[in-house]
Amino acid sequence: MVKVTVCGAAGGIGQPLSLLLKQSNLITHLSLYDIVNTPGVAADLSHINTQSKVTGHVGAAQIEEAIKDSTIVVIPAGVPRKPGMTRDDLFKINAGIVRDIAVAAAKFAPKAYMCIISNPVNSTVPIVAEVFKQFNVYDPRRIFGVTTLDIVRASTFVTELIGGDASTLRVPVIGGHSGVTILPLLSQVKGTEKLSQEQIETVTNRIQFGGDEVVKAKDGAGSATLSMAFAGARFALNILDAVVAKKTGVVECTYVHLDADKQGAESVKSLIGGDIEYFSVPVEFGPHGVEKILPIGDINDYEQKLVSVATTELKGNIVKGSNFITEGA
Ligand code: NAI
Repeated sequence: MVKVTVCGAAGGIGQPLSLLLKQSNLITHLSLYDIVNTPGVAADLSHINTQSKVTGHVGAAQIEEAIKDSTIVVIPAGVPRKPGMTRDDLFKINAGIVRDIAVAAAKFAPKAYMCIISNPVNSTVPIVAEVFKQFNVYDPRRIFGVTTLDIVRASTFVTELIGGDASTLRVPVIGGHSGVTILPLLSQVKGTEKLSQEQIETVTNRIQFGGDEVVKAKDGAGSATLSMAFAGARFALNILDAVVAKKTGVVECTYVHLDADKQGAESVKSLIGGDIEYFSVPVEFGPHGVEKILPIGDINDYEQKLVSVATTELKGNIVKGSNFITEGA
């Protein structure tokens, strides 16, 4: 049985994400959890003639049945940004939502691969990790912040400049998932050597703040949902490919605790010239989740400067998330 639970399944991301997951033949049970509207979404999706059974569950009283024995729990629950808001502004509401879902997962699906989409990802991932520690079910190889949308955007925006096929161009994006903590490593992408420094800086900024383009265009009606659903499905399906289909060589950048592969993490620590707990890194997935943290590779002076700026902000975000659980603050 391969059960995937989407928490926040009735939302702007949750619905299209569930639709994309319904197309996978690796999933046998798609479980939809939200505080509203999941019976309708589940009834609708259940008419699609793919193999997974679809169930809908509403409200805290049904979270146990929703999440029990899940292989993967994907969390796009919570409020999105409005114009002028940063991801950190969402902390007050989303921290508690993510904590409650993490508690249910720790109790009823302690072996699940946790894919966290709810913002601020830099802080919500430490929240899930600390909850799992409290329940003694913590394994850093199974808790992921989904930063795939940054990678998807980077492929699109860079291809607009250098040409080629955006669907196959891979741009490593490391660091975190908010503004200056998003670090695209353009110097590692073939074809970017023909760009001027000004072009590099402009596209780097566009990747870092690409989410704002959508927030502004939606004008109060939310943030990225459809592109996020695409990215979230890609991420969850990558994990299923590695864990269920036993595919090897599945690589994606994702925000993890660096204890997930202490040896592999050395390359991050030398990059930032110190210690940091969580960082988005290129990860190879395997049957246990994180199989290896891959080397970051060479970066240039400009990227090194971005790393310094990112690290300071990221450390603050991490402490904020961890403290929310350990100190109730
Ligand atoms: P939305 O408001 O359309 O949907 C959120 C859903 O969560 C709603 O259906 C709501 O009922 C549900 N929800 C609220 N409290 C809940 C609880 N306690 N348990 C379960 N479900 C609950 O928001 P949208 O646009 O789908 O965004 C969701 C989150 O994803 C936001 O935090 C947003 O910032 C984040 N996001 C993350 C991205 C990333 O790259 N990681 C990109 C875009 C958005």
